[in-house]
Amino acid sequence: MERTPAISSFLARRPLATLYRAPGRINIIGEHTDYNEGFVLPGASHLHLLFAVEPSMSQDLRVQAGRYEETASIDLDDPPIRMDHWSRYVAAVVQTARAHQLPLSGLEIIFDGNLPAGAGMSSSSALTCGLLYILNHQLGWQLPLEKLISLAQESEHRTGVRGGIMDQFAIFSARRQEAILLDCRSLEAQFVPISKEGPFWYLVDSGVQHNLVHSPYNQRREACERMVALARTRNSNVTALRDLDMDALHLLQEVADQEDFRMARHVVTENQRVGQMVEALTRCDWERAGQLLLQSHQSLRDDYQVSCVELDFLVDSLITLPGVLGARLMGAGFGGSVLCLADPDREEEITNRIQHMFADRFDQSCNVYRVALDDGIQIVDLQ
Ligand code: GLA
Repeated sequence: MERTPAISSFLARRPLATLYRAPGRINIIGEHTDYNEGFVLPGASHLHLLFAVEPSMSQDLRVQAGRYEETASIDLDDPPIRMDHWSRYVAAVVQTARAHQLPLSGLEIIFDGNLPAGAGMSSSSALTCGLLYILNHQLGWQLPLEKLISLAQESEHRTGVRGGIMDQFAIFSARRQEAILLDCRSLEAQFVPISKEGPFWYLVDSGVQHNLVHSPYNQRREACERMVALARTRNSNVTALRDLDMDALHLLQEVADQEDFRMARHVVTENQRVGQMVEALTRCDWERAGQLLLQSHQSLRDDYQVSCVELDFLVDSLITLPGVLGARLMGAGFGGSVLCLADPDREEEITNRIQHMFADRFDQSCNVYRVALDDGIQIVDLQ
């Protein structure tokens, strides 16, 4: 695991520090289904944040962000949230801990790493989950993983985005070389091995930064809630879009707002695609897996309307390249990365060609990463 210069210098000055690793989240399929109590298929990325931590005598969390070369001191008694600053996640975690009467005391923390921010890999959840894991470990909270997952989600809600549970669940519980088939209603998880043979998964980061607080993420949730309310006028057993199949949805088409109807159609079809993807991966049917990625992208673009020109360009261009089986926008959308399934023998050619095509069109570069599904949060052995 590569330590950045900032982490190395912190560790050199504090030999008793503990090192933690929190990965980013990738998602094979199942987008915007988590807060509709549906299914998702995420895992943890090899790209991660590292945190070096030492207890301190002060009454604050002193958190240094290696990548921004900035330090924030968060008062443990009165932590205001500065909405436009990365430290909002630290303050939100402290507020959550206080709301649950969890004991707090001073810590000196530095975080840094190779996980890009705003690339659709949930760096904000990696930060939030990482901090909660650290507090649990350093301050003797002894909370089980499920509790930490829900505290992480609650903390992120304090920053203004009503996100689902997928990112936090994956970041805490993922396993190397496996994806998690998660039922977001029961939180039952089944691990799905991802074969090392066959095509590889790549991420192409468009570099378009999204800030979900200012994006229509919450509006998408509200559209889903309106459709649930409408469905309940016909069937009171419906409590989330997860409960609708295509037949039940079509019965609402006449009476629903047409935009809301399309949003719900994305959720219903995407839930089906998660199951179909697990089948395809289990059979090593890569053609089918690629088709499902494309169908997911089309649905996110046309029905859910969370794509943007850069992401559409990447998907449309990637699928013209030899060796590419499929691609789709990953994460919330509105920017960030495209996930792509492609022949590893063509990696160099695909990387060069997509970077050229993107630069020709937008006059800026895009990064390509080969994804390795990794373990969830852990303590790093310093020996
Ligand atoms: C963000 C949210 C998740 C999920 C995805 C879309 O990453 O944090 O909960 O809703 O968007 O699938």
